[in-house]
Amino acid sequence: MKRDVYCGQVIKEQVGRQITLCGWVASWRDHGGVVFVDLRDRTGICQIVFKPETGKVYELGRSLRNEDVVVVTGELILRQPGATNPRISTGEVELIAAQATLCNKADPAPFLPSSHEPVSEDVRLKYRYVDLRRRPMTEALIFRHRVTKLMRDYCDEHGFLEIETPILYKSTPEGAREFLVPSRLSPGDFYALPQSPQLFKQVLMVAGMDRYMQIARCFRDEALRSDRQPEFTQLDLEMSFVDREDVIALVTGLIRRLWSELLQVQLPERFPHMSWQEAMDRFGVDKPDTRFGMELKDVSETAAQTDFAVFKDAVASGGCVKMIAVPGGGTLSRKQLDELTAEAKQFGARGLAWIKLGGDAGAGNMGGPIAKFISPALQQTLRTATGAADGDLLLAVADKREIAWRVLGELRLKLGRTLGLMNESSWNFLWVIDFPGFERDEATGKIIARHHPFTSPLDDDLPQLESDPLSVRAKAYDLVLNGVEIGGGSIRIHRREVQSRIFSLLGISPEEAEKKFAFLLDALRFGAPPHGGIALGMDRLIMLMLGRQSIREVIAFPKTQSGTDLMTQAPSPVEPAQLADLHLAVVGLPPHGQAVPKHAAAEKQP
Ligand code: AMO
Ligand code: AMP
Repeated sequence: MKRDVYCGQVIKEQVGRQITLCGWVASWRDHGGVVFVDLRDRTGICQIVFKPETGKVYELGRSLRNEDVVVVTGELILRQPGATNPRISTGEVELIAAQATLCNKADPAPFLPSSHEPVSEDVRLKYRYVDLRRRPMTEALIFRHRVTKLMRDYCDEHGFLEIETPILYKSTPEGAREFLVPSRLSPGDFYALPQSPQLFKQVLMVAGMDRYMQIARCFRDEALRSDRQPEFTQLDLEMSFVDREDVIALVTGLIRRLWSELLQVQLPERFPHMSWQEAMDRFGVDKPDTRFGMELKDVSETAAQTDFAVFKDAVASGGCVKMIAVPGGGTLSRKQLDELTAEAKQFGARGLAWIKLGGDAGAGNMGGPIAKFISPALQQTLRTATGAADGDLLLAVADKREIAWRVLGELRLKLGRTLGLMNESSWNFLWVIDFPGFERDEATGKIIARHHPFTSPLDDDLPQLESDPLSVRAKAYDLVLNGVEIGGGSIRIHRREVQSRIFSLLGISPEEAEKKFAFLLDALRFGAPPHGGIALGMDRLIMLMLGRQSIREVIAFPKTQSGTDLMTQAPSPVEPAQLADLHLAVVGLPPHGQAVPKHAAAEKQP
């Protein structure tokens, strides 16, 4: 029982030969006389013909049903003219079955891999082995393999060593919530699953490995979305004796190679760079989708001179007024504007002011509830500042700049999508650089690291570390593609005294730092080279390369939004004896029905 060739790779040159194919019955047609079976494997489909003169083989052919597993041997022939199928690569040939073995009869499948009928994602995830037989899923896994292989080759060519790092790790504050693993041998103690191999890769630099890479699995117990999974994969890199532009050049080269070899797209040699500040000011988000305009404009100065109290008050109290001009937005109905306002409020706005240009108000005029508060001269200034013309709509948020950014940044994206402003075929890469190193945690008021506490501040900003920490920029960079953050990294701190200053700024006491990061602080004492690196989110990268809507479409066994694996039913209760071994007891469970339901569907909206 050995295949000679994959079904989808049968070629015309093999016509006249006896070949053996193995696979699954994708479809069958009994024409009362001959039986046609489409046989499928991971490469595609080949048509098999069972003829009555073959007796038992024909009978077997007649008995075949969808998803039965068979091995068939026979002569490959050219199809009759007119019987060819241009939709499949093997459409000019067919195999005349001379021998056939039924390996396994399949029960009727929960859904047919070859059908185009929509199937709910829960069902697809439960029967993932059937789902993965569907062409788009098989293709995604094959494509993913190619991406991984090319990444390894590229890194190897550039002198990287692939080194594995532990999965049972130590709990360290890195950002997201960790998954914990109780230790049996050391009762009451826990391992944590790594959010990333961050500290190990830094220690590997201290160890002199110079260039490290790993296709690394990362674990984060955070709220899930279409582009987030509790376990996901990174291409993780670290390099010694480099600065930011070295890392950026290396990754740009890798991305260009991926696009050229796997998508036949030639990308520019250099991707644009944009400071975090500029990204926020122009797009309201730190991962701008630069495929369309509709940029944010700060109109605080003009707005303060109007008679609209909301604007004046916001500016007077240290806030700002920002606007976006929606091209052709003058046609939005009152209902649509109310919906936009409701959405703005969900993003934290107190309201959304809108102004229609031209239209009912007459050419060159402004209409809407607040237009009357703006003098003709100021109206003209607003037109110039925003570039809006008759027929357009202005949307304004008056608030703290962080809120104005968030609300208009989100509305811009939503409107860009609904108005079809994004060129779906363009690949807009962008390096966002000079991130703030720190931010204030809204809930606790404490200073926290934006990237992670091992990120080096810009040399110029180091003197302000204690006096004005929020103004300190970091040697951190993100790679953004079409508005999605596909990678992030930084140049690290390699001097112990700087690391200690950062810990104390973050309110991590020397004792606590010692307890949590003794190994890192030690390592920094024993000869640490300057180093930096980056991690690319493989799932997001592959999702975008394939134009899929969710990272679940490019992961073999993803989890639902509630963190459940619907195929294995993980997570699940364990035996009391297992808990006893670990000295654990489960207490204080939320009342039944309050926890996220296990089968809660993956979210519908990406
Ligand atoms: P960061 O946390 O920015 O950096 O992660 C790097 C990239 O990983 C992807 N990513 C995710 N993908 C799917 N599901 C998730 N839950 C998820 N979280 C992150 C994103 C992101 O850009 N150790 C640092 C890297 C470094 O500094 O070198 C790190 O992990 O695409
Ligand atoms: P009000 O005076 O609260 O009735 O608001 C008048 C208009 O201004 C309404 O369309 C509100 O949605 C809008 N508005 C209220 N607060 C803000 C704000 N902070 N920024 C922008 N528009 C606002």
